[in-house]
This record gives sequence, C-alpha cells and structure tokens, in this order.
Amino acid sequence: MYKMYGILLLLTFGSIIVPHHGMNISASESMVTTFINEISEWVASGVMSQKFTNIIGDLAIPTEMQRIDWTKLNGSKASGFCTICKSITKTIINLRRTGTPIKIIQQTVIKLCTRLNLQTEAVCRGVVNLNTPVIVYIIDNDITINEYDVCGLLFQDQMCVSSPLRYEWSININARRPKIINKQPSKKNLKILQITDIHYDPLYEPGGNAGCNEPTCCRRGQNQTGGNTLQAGYWGDFNNCDVPWHSVVDALDHMKEQHKDINLIYFTGDVIDHGVWETSREGNTKSLVKNFNKMKDIFGNTPIYPIVGNHEPNPVNLFAPSDIKDDQLSTRWLYQLLADLWINYGWLPESTRETILRGGFYTLSPQKGFRIIAINNNVCYVYNWWLIYKPNDPDGQLQWLEDTLLKAEKDNESVHILGHIPSGDSTCQHTWSREYRRIINRFSHIITAQFNGHTHNDEFNVFYDLFDKTKLINVAWNGGSITPYAYLNPNYKIYIVDNNTYVVEDIETWMYNLTNANETPEKRPLWFNSYSFKKEYNLSDLSSGSLNKMVVDMAKDSPILEVYYKNFFKHAAPELEKECDKSCLLSYVCRIVTTSSGNMNDCEYFQIINSLK
Ligand SMILES: *[C@@H]1O[C@H](CO)[C@@H](O)[C@H](O)[C@H]1NC(C)=O
Ligand SMILES: *[C@@H]1O[C@H](CO)[C@@H](O)[C@H](O)[C@H]1NC(C)=O
Ligand SMILES: *[C@@H]1O[C@H](CO)[C@@H](O)[C@H](O)[C@H]1NC(C)=O
Ligand SMILES: *[C@@H]1O[C@H](CO)[C@@H](O)[C@H](O)[C@H]1NC(C)=O
Ligand SMILES: *[C@@H]1O[C@H](CO)[C@@H](O)[C@H](O)[C@H]1NC(C)=O
Ligand SMILES: *[C@@H]1O[C@H](CO)[C@@H](O)[C@H](O)[C@H]1NC(C)=O
Ligand SMILES: *[C@@H]1O[C@H](CO)[C@@H](O)[C@H](O)[C@H]1NC(C)=O
Ligand SMILES: [Zn+2]
Ligand SMILES: [Zn+2]
Repeated sequence: MYKMYGILLLLTFGSIIVPHHGMNISASESMVTTFINEISEWVASGVMSQKFTNIIGDLAIPTEMQRIDWTKLNGSKASGFCTICKSITKTIINLRRTGTPIKIIQQTVIKLCTRLNLQTEAVCRGVVNLNTPVIVYIIDNDITINEYDVCGLLFQDQMCVSSPLRYEWSININARRPKIINKQPSKKNLKILQITDIHYDPLYEPGGNAGCNEPTCCRRGQNQTGGNTLQAGYWGDFNNCDVPWHSVVDALDHMKEQHKDINLIYFTGDVIDHGVWETSREGNTKSLVKNFNKMKDIFGNTPIYPIVGNHEPNPVNLFAPSDIKDDQLSTRWLYQLLADLWINYGWLPESTRETILRGGFYTLSPQKGFRIIAINNNVCYVYNWWLIYKPNDPDGQLQWLEDTLLKAEKDNESVHILGHIPSGDSTCQHTWSREYRRIINRFSHIITAQFNGHTHNDEFNVFYDLFDKTKLINVAWNGGSITPYAYLNPNYKIYIVDNNTYVVEDIETWMYNLTNANETPEKRPLWFNSYSFKKEYNLSDLSSGSLNKMVVDMAKDSPILEVYYKNFFKHAAPELEKECDKSCLLSYVCRIVTTSSGNMNDCEYFQIINSLK
C-alpha cells in the first residue's frame, strides 16, 4: 500500500483548488493559467506577489487531505486534479527545457508543496530531492514527453485526457486451444505459508508520536505531538505506523512454532517502511538483509519463494528498465542484492539469476508437475515514472510470462503465480493489466492460483472469462499484511494445497488483536486462527463453481457480504466503526471481480445480478 507521496513532484500544486472549493472545470482551468503565470513571475523575480500569496492561502489543503490518494478521487474533484496536473507538468517541463537550474526547480516545488500544506517541509524536500534525478533524466532523454503522457498515466481512470498512444501495445499470445490435462487429487496436501507486507520500521519507537503529520508516524524524532495524546503502542499501532523489529520477530517465531509442517513459503513483497521521503539505498539494503536473514534463520531449510514489493527500491516505486546503465538511476543494485540473498540461502536455483537481474522476476519448479512464476508487477504501478519513458512491456516481462506458461502447458505443469499488486488495482497501468488479463484467460486451465499482497487487506479476486462473463476461470488470493498500516490488525495466511493438482483446498487466516496486544506489552501477542475460508463462507470446496456461487450470493446481498467486509479489515475497530451501507458493501463485490484495471465490465455485470435478485 502506498498513498500518494511519490507523485508530489509532478503534481505539487495539484492538490489545490478542487478539494474544498467544488469549482467547475472551466473555472479551475482559468485559475490554473493565472497560477502558472504567477509561478513564472515568482521564479523569475524571486518575489511573491500579493495575488500569488492570496491564491496559495486560499488553496492550501486541509491536513486531513494529505493522506488521500488523489489519483483515486472521482467526479469533479478528479477532473480538477487532472486539469491541474496538465498545467503543472507543462510548467516543470518548460522550466527544464529553458535551462532553469535544477536547484531552482527543486526549491520552487518544495516551497509550493510546503505552502500549500501538501506535506510538511521535510517530507516535501525529501520526496522532491529523491525523485528529481529520474524526472530530469526522462525530460532530457525524450523530447516528445508532454503533459498528456504524464497525466494520462496518473489519472488513467478519470477520462481527463484520452489515453496517449504511447501506452498502447500488446504481446503475442499463443492462439492454440488450451491443452487440458486431467490431474487426480492426491491424498496428500502441501501446507503453504504466505507472509506479506512486513513494512519493518527501524525507527519505530514505542511511546512515540502516533499522531504525526508525516506519511508514517511512531518514528524516532517525531516527538512534536502537536497537542495530540496518541502514543505508539508497543507491538504496533492502528494509526499510520509500521512495525518495530520485536513484532516482526514475534510474527515469524509464532508462525514457526504454530505450524510445524509448513512445506513452502511465499513472501509477496514490501519489507521497507512507509518513510518514503527519507529512504536510502543503504537503509533499504540494511532492512532487506535483516528481514531475509531472519526468515532464513527461523525457517531453516523450508524453501521461501519471495518477490519484490513496490517499496523495496530507492526512491520508492521506481523500477528502471534494464538498459538504464547509469548507476544512480538503475535498479541493478536491488536486483543484485536480492538475487545474491535468495540464491545464497538456497531458496532459489542459480537459473533464476538472469531474470532477477533483468527485472526482478523468475520461475522455478519445486517438484515435478508444479511451477512457480514470480513476477515483478510493480513495473505497472502508475507511480513508476519509468513507465512514462518506456511503457512497452517493461523488460519484456509479460512476453516472458506468456512464454513460460506455454512451456509449462507443454510440460503438464500446474502453476502458481506470485505478484505483489493485484492485477485489477486501479493504480496498475491499464494496458499492462489488460495484457496480463489476456494471458490469464489463455492459461487459466494450468494456473491453479495467484497470490498477491500490497493492499494489506484480507481479500481475493476472481477472474471471469473474457468471452463468457458467467464463467469463473481463476482466483487471486491476497495475503493481507504483517504491518497494521493503516488501521488494520496484523495477519498471515496458511493455504492447504493438493499435492498433485496444486489446487487450493482451504485457507486459514491467522491474526491478533492489536488493541488487546498493546494492553499487555510484556506478553507476546495472542495469535489465533480467525477463520477457515470454507467454513466461514459455508463452501464445500474452493472450486470455480463454489466461488462463483459465493460471489453471486454476495452480489445478491447475502449476509456473507458483511462477514467478508469484516474480514477484509481484519476486524480492526477503527474501520468497522465506520458506517458501511448496502451500496458501500456492494462496492466490495465490484472490487472482487475487477481484475483488469479500468475495465468495469465484470463489475457492471454484477450490478445487474444485484438488480435482478
Ligand atoms: C463555471 O464557473 C464560472 C466562473 O465561476 C462561471 O462563470 C460558469 O458559469 C460556471 N460554469 C458552469 C457550467 O457552472
Ligand atoms: C465517487 O466516490 C465516492 C466515494 O469515494 C462514491 O460515493 C461515489 O459514488 C463516486 N462517484 C462516482 C461517479 O463514481
Ligand atoms: C508431494 O508429492 C511429491 C511427488 O510429486 C513428493 O515427493 C512429496 O513428498 C509430496 N509431499 C507431501 C507433503 O506429501
Ligand atoms: C523524544 O526525544 C528525546 C530527545 O529529544 C528522546 O530522548 C526521547 O526518547 C524521544 N521519545 C519519546 C517517546 O519521548
Ligand atoms: C503430458 O501428459 C500427456 C497426457 O497425459 C502425456 O501424453 C505427455 O507425455 C505428457 N508430457 C510430458 C512432458 O510429461
Ligand atoms: C480487541 O481487543 C479489545 C481490547 O481488549 C477489545 O475491546 C475488542 O473488542 C477486541 N476486538 C475484537 C474484534 O475482538
Ligand atoms: C450452507 O450451505 C448448505 C448447502 O450449500 C445449505 O444447506 C446451508 O443452509 C448453508 N448454511 C448457511 C448457514 O448458510
Ligand atoms: Zn505494502
Ligand atoms: Zn506495496
């Protein structure tokens, strides 16, 4: 999960206008023009006119808006943001192209960011400084880049600009009919542990300030409480806080003690904290080594199949294409580190190194008839600026995925796909998501499960056939999170999987009540099996037919929808205390069935089901 801080540089003034003024588009267009003129004069003269000061005073955002993902706003708010995005991007590109020194561009952006109350000064400064090299590189190396390319990506759902042609591409998918092989269930099961989204915070300080103004709180040095009395809990905190080391260790220890018969482990990404304005290569390296070492230490010879999360690079979210050789910009240091760790632990064979170094993805077969494909789908995240520069199937990963699946089909293998971001997430670039979706359609007969993280919620997605909306063909399970960020209880999952078909037969969700744990800091948290999927949702199995019936029932407003909703937030009080009426609940069905970002077909179909009941 990552809200919006990386976007600041391009959108700095972006927050303005719209949120609390409810202005119409033509009004905001003209305001933006005025504003840009004022900025230019300010940059040229160094003097802020009274008019300029007034505009900023008017437009500064309320602090509670700081943590909202602006790209997910809809309606008039979104179109306003989009208009502004275009204007601002154009200003930055112009400043750079007319030779304005980088320091001046940075100072301008930092000052505006601070004055508009987008973030605190330290956060504005950190985010701007971290992102500048990549932004400048892109502006300098592609003279065609314009505001439509940038805003058409960030606001891809908002229809404010038609999707630029730059983002249109497709991959070759084998056109043969799927080769079906019948595998018989064995009497044996595999037990798979999924751990995801740890977000270990080395600066976490029990008793620290849980009500800070930065993107993440409870960190050493955030002592200014500004009058709030929120104190960081010992084991973690429901406010925007990540996880202290002793909680990471407790979680891993508990998994090991509780489940003596785990056969394999999936780790689906995000080790690094949400302190996105002050990350460094050294800091991230330290946290990655510390966490993976601990996992190796605790789980010994049980193999762990890890993937990379969007928080692992520095700065956050940026995955450079493999032909970017400049060491300052390249992601090579991260891929190199992970390949070395994962292969040295004995988790991955040497054969995975080449693709990890190319783009953070790999495949292997743990036993005959079974293949794991681990992808780095963070490249599709709209905050990955490199997508603007090289949008076309970054590092050839999706074509590689297709080729790998084709080979698996030939070899009679069943496949699990591990990916960090759920494919239908609105922040995954539409074309990437659509092409991924096409691949799933072709190979759904051999993909027996997908595993995701990133959202921190306990949820799942079902895939319907692109050519038959009623036919459920695949499912992606989301592991939840170890971090309580934000307003969630910590959890992990155990999957019971047939040892011959590799179909998931049942799932346990283990968690603890964070409020309860923090009442007795001296005692270890009380982990418990919150529920087993089959029993919780009254299913005889997790087959396509059963899952389809469950989702259809939910769309028809069955009581299980509310059960799902509570599990989604892992029974954390702050979320459950909020009102969620019928249409709010139904939006969760929409979320389950949306697997291609920006494509609402499946959601609309379920709305029809609802209206027919
Ligand atoms: C939009 O705002 C402008 C300026 O306030 C106003 O003149 C115009 O009538 C408004 N347009 C609509 C469609 O509300
Ligand atoms: C916009 O979002 C709000 C809540 O986030 C929702 O209630 C509303 O229905 C949405 N409107 C549209 C047009 O999607
Ligand atoms: C699963 O099947 C493989 C053979 O494909 C076998 O080697 C392995 O021991 C089995 N694992 C379990 C847990 O039964
Ligand atoms: C606050 O800051 C001081 C140093 O200025 C430090 O000693 C202390 O541990 C910090 N944390 C809390 C929770 O007071
Ligand atoms: C795949 O299964 C088919 C049918 O059971 C069999 O004929 C074929 O030899 C198998 N191929 C491989 C590579 O195992
Ligand atoms: C969690 O623990 C708190 C404090 O012990 C308790 O008040 C609350 O009801 C618990 N929540 C759940 C969902 O059990
Ligand atoms: C569970 O499912 C069975 C069969 O599908 C049905 O007979 C039973 O009423 C269901 N129970 C509940 C509590 O919904
Ligand atoms: Zn995360
Ligand atoms: Zn993430």
